[in-house]
Parts: sequence; C-alpha cells; structure tokens
Amino acid sequence: MPHAIPTLESKMEAKPVGSYPDTKIDVLIIGTGLGGLTAALECKRKGHNVTVFERNATINTAGDMYFMGLSATRFFKHWPDMAKRYYEISLHNCWIETFQHNGNRMFAPALARERLRAQGAPEGSPPPGIFQMRPLVYKMFVDEVEKQGIPIHYNHRVVDYFEDESRQKGGVITADGKRHEADVVIAADGVGSKSQALVGGVVRAKASGRAMWRAAFPYKIVEEHPELKKFWSVMQPGDQPIVRTFLGPGTYALTLSRKDVMVWIINHATTGSEEENWNHTISKEEVLKGLDEMPYMENDKWAPELIELVKNTPDNTIVNFDLLWRDPQPQWVSPKGRVVQIGDAAHSYLPSSSSGATQAIEDAISIASCLQIGGKANITTATRVHVRLRFIRNSCAQKLGFSNAELLQSTDWNKVRIEPRLAQPKLPSWIFSHDPEAHAYDYYETAAEGLKKGLAIQKDDIPPNYPPGYKYEPWSIDKIIEDASKGIALDLGEGDWS
Ligand SMILES: Cc1cc2nc3c(=O)[nH]c(=O)nc-3n(C[C@H](O)[C@H](O)[C@H](O)COP(=O)(O)OP(=O)(O)OC[C@H]3O[C@@H](n4cnc5c(N)ncnc54)[C@H](O)[C@@H]3O)c2cc1C
Ligand SMILES: *[C@@H]1O[C@H](CO)[C@@H](O)[C@H](O)[C@H]1NC(C)=O
Ligand SMILES: *[C@@H]1O[C@H](CO)[C@@H](O)[C@H](O)[C@H]1NC(C)=O
Repeated sequence: MPHAIPTLESKMEAKPVGSYPDTKIDVLIIGTGLGGLTAALECKRKGHNVTVFERNATINTAGDMYFMGLSATRFFKHWPDMAKRYYEISLHNCWIETFQHNGNRMFAPALARERLRAQGAPEGSPPPGIFQMRPLVYKMFVDEVEKQGIPIHYNHRVVDYFEDESRQKGGVITADGKRHEADVVIAADGVGSKSQALVGGVVRAKASGRAMWRAAFPYKIVEEHPELKKFWSVMQPGDQPIVRTFLGPGTYALTLSRKDVMVWIINHATTGSEEENWNHTISKEEVLKGLDEMPYMENDKWAPELIELVKNTPDNTIVNFDLLWRDPQPQWVSPKGRVVQIGDAAHSYLPSSSSGATQAIEDAISIASCLQIGGKANITTATRVHVRLRFIRNSCAQKLGFSNAELLQSTDWNKVRIEPRLAQPKLPSWIFSHDPEAHAYDYYETAAEGLKKGLAIQKDDIPPNYPPGYKYEPWSIDKIIEDASKGIALDLGEGDWS
C-alpha cells in the first residue's frame, strides 16, 4: 500500500487530471528535468495546453540518486499511477550505518526511521523524504507525461527567449533559427538557463573548491565479488537497503546498497578535472590516486573496503561533478511577465543540499496552479504572484543547503566529537510539511493584492513557507565565504530553522 500522504488543511479542492476546465492557456515548457516534467503534468492537470522542448535527442537517465522531500511528493495524490510506482521504486526499511573514513564503525546499522524517532519524530509519521534513484524516478515522470499525450519535442535546443507584449506572447528561438510562441513560456532548462538574457538576474557561478566523485552500477557486481559482498551487502533478512556514511577530515563518503544498484559518492577538493555536468566521467585510477593523496590522511587512509569498491566500479561510470555556488536572485520573470523560470534555472542548489529536485517540483506545481487561478486574462500577474509565493522559501532552502554542505565537509571533523546528527543534513519541518499547491490556492489573492499595491514580498499577509520568524535580507555567497575564512560560522538569520 502506498504511504498515506497527509493532506494539509487548506481551502483548496484537489482534483485529478481531466476535472479542471480548459483554460485555453498555451504553455511552452523548455527542458525535461524534473522541473519541466512536473510542470508538464501539473499544467495539463490544471487545464492548460502544454508543449515541451528538450535539447537532447532523447531522455537522459544519467545520474545516481537525489533526495525527494515530502513537499514534492504530496501531489502524487492526484496521480494514482505515479503514487503506486513511486512506492514500488522507493526504499523501504532503509538502514543507516556510520563510520570514520578509515573504516572504524561509529554507529551500528539502525533503521532510518528509528534514528528519526530517536531525534524526536512522532511515531508513525512519514519520513521527511527519501533518497531516490534518479534513473527510476525520471523514467516514471517521462512515462506519465507520454501517457498523458503531452508532446515532447527532442532535438529542440533553445538559444534565446523573447516576449511580445502587444501580441501577449512569450517565445523562444531554437538552434535551427525557428521562432516558437505561446501565451507563457516556462524556462526549466536548468543552471545557466538561456532565459537569463531576457529575464535578467544573471548570477555568476562561484567555485566552492569542492567536487564529488559519484557512481552507480548494478548491485550484481557486488554480489558476484566475494570480497565486496562481505562489506557492501544489503541487510538481511529481506534484502533491505542500507546507507553507509564515512566521515573524514574535511571530506565524507556516502554509499547506498540496494538489491538492484550500488551507489557511492565521495566529496573531494577540486583538482581541475571536474565539470558541472552529469555526463562527465573520469577513470577510477584518477579517483584511487586522489583518495590516496587526500590531505590529513598520511597515517590514516580510507577504509580498504571503500578502495576495493572504487577499484571494481565499471569503466565510464564515475562522474566528477564540480560543486558550484550561486547567489539567490529574485528575478525569475521576464519584464512583461510572459517568461518564467523554475527549478535550477531560477535557483541552483548543491547536490549535497537535499533540495534541488524538491524545490524544482514545488515550483512546477506552484506555477501550474497560479496560471489556473488567474486564468488566461491574468497570466502576467500569475507568473509574478508565483515568484512572490516562492522566492523567500527558495532563498532559505539555498542557505540551508550551504549550511548542510558545511556540516558535511567541515574541516574540523577531527576536533568535533563525531555525532550522527552532524552527518545528517538538516531537514526542518518548514521544508517538508509544505504543500505548494495548497499554498497557491490559499494565498494567490493576497499575493496579487500585494503585487498591485507594490508591497515588498514579505509585507504580504501570508503565513511563512520558510523558517517562522525569518526576516528576508539579501545575502551572498561571497559574504558567507568571507565569514568562513575569518572563522565566523554561517549565520542562517532570524527565525526557527530547526
Ligand atoms: C542528466 C542529469 C542527471 C542528474 N543527476 C543527478 C543526481 O544524480 N543527483 C542530484 O542530486 N542531482 C542530479 N541532477 C540534477 C537535478 O536533477 C536537478 O538539480 C533538479 O532536479 C532540478 O531540476 P531542473 O528540472 O530544474 O533542471 P535539470 O534537471 O538540470 O533539467 C534541465 C533540462 O533542460 C534541458 N536543457 C538545458 N538547456 C536547454 C536548452 N537550451 N534548450 C532545451 N533544453 C535544454 C536539459 O537537457 C535538461 O533536460 C541531474 C540532472 C540531469 C540533467
Ligand atoms: C549527455 O548525454 C546525453 C545522452 O547520452 C546526450 O544527449 C547529451 O548531449 C549529453 N549532454 C552533455 C551536456 O554532455
Ligand atoms: C483576471 O482578470 C480579469 C480581467 O481583468 C479580472 O476581472 C479577474 O478578477 C482576474 N482574476 C483573478 C483571479 O485575478
């Protein structure tokens, strides 16, 4: 049985696909990441007419795992087939075990839900989210989009965006020079979106100095190798999945054994060979050399079991992913309101922040709802209202991401007493208890009123979907880095971030 997904109190009436009247709004979505695909499904459900463009020739099921928060999966209640499949591909009864990098076990395997309960989670409450295999989740979304008959045009690389106020259209130009128009364009084309030129708010990527080696390969390889099997097995009885974390000086590794797939991720200092590209693979020799030469490990090397795992990773599997930082910026909508950015195109997250997929999906749900509430006569209000409902929340989630990353790769690991809590990204309830669809229906009007009056975003009388008590002030990565270099801990700001 699928999880009972809690319905939050709201005046929203949730309806399945086919029950909303046709809005006659033509929506053009650029990009088939989780943001774009969710926007396609939710726009269809809300009665809009959807077309999707993707630059690649076909779907890209690259990647290993990401965290999907509860706030991004509540909408499956409208999509029973996806709810069922999500349950089937999800980790159930997941275990966690914690080591020092050298293989000393710090905490014996425990069920994740029991660890959560030990930290105060109420009995029987759903987990705040779960690690999901990207290839499986991604395929699930693509299949649903296809089943709904939503056209995805592959090999459509967008080179520019435009809008024409007099004709009330937004549009894009593709690499073949053709122009394509719609009533509204949703830019879901990821970091470095081509919509930045029109929308403004271009942010420079800054090197964090860190990168990740990441790999996913069939679990069969572990099973068929006696040495690997000894350490990297799933839990018995019942072939249950297990996450193992390894905490080292200024670094960490995270692995996942499930009965179909083995994943490992190692955080490391950049060497120049990394790229912000999920296709960018390197040789295992480079990784082994890097592991051997890590600083502060002269007499205390990585666990031999981890080295063995890397040695047995198939060729062309290890991705070397650069971790880049970008400042939050509130400019997600084009000057005339016909092009709106969602997901990584609007705000980027480090993959270690547990938020990228979740916030992209939330954005998609919110924009589809806002367009439905406003209707065809109010598209340019709807896109702006959407940003008012989403910006502060995202800026807080981004900041939390830096704080989580800092926790995990803090160079002071040797000094602090290792606590499992430290190695776990913070997942506060203001993040996972949110419902972006209900929020849009409950507060669209208030936000539209604030927009009309020219109020600052936070002056809208709307309960916070960010840390309660938080007062928004612009902040920048430069300041965080500068503070860090002076030994000043990252200051999340006012409010309840717990
Ligand atoms: C192949 C891939 C693998 C990933 N693997 C992981 C992972 O293992 N772990 C993790 O934490 N995160 C991973 N991510 C990132 C994560 O999916 C995103 O950060 C998050 O889900 C937000 O998604 P998004 O839809 O905003 O952007 P993205 O997922 O980046 O999707 C953007 C889409 O737009 C398309 N696109 C880009 N430019 C253009 C253009 N000019 N014209 C037309 N189409 C364009 C891209 O091809 C892509 O399909 C991966 C992303 C991709 C694309
Ligand atoms: C990544 O791989 C996909 C699928 O093989 C390909 O279509 C795409 O062009 C590649 N993208 C990048 C950025 O290298
Ligand atoms: C949409 O626009 C119409 C026409 O301007 C207006 O009468 C209506 O109140 C608007 N609806 C919403 C929900 O903003």
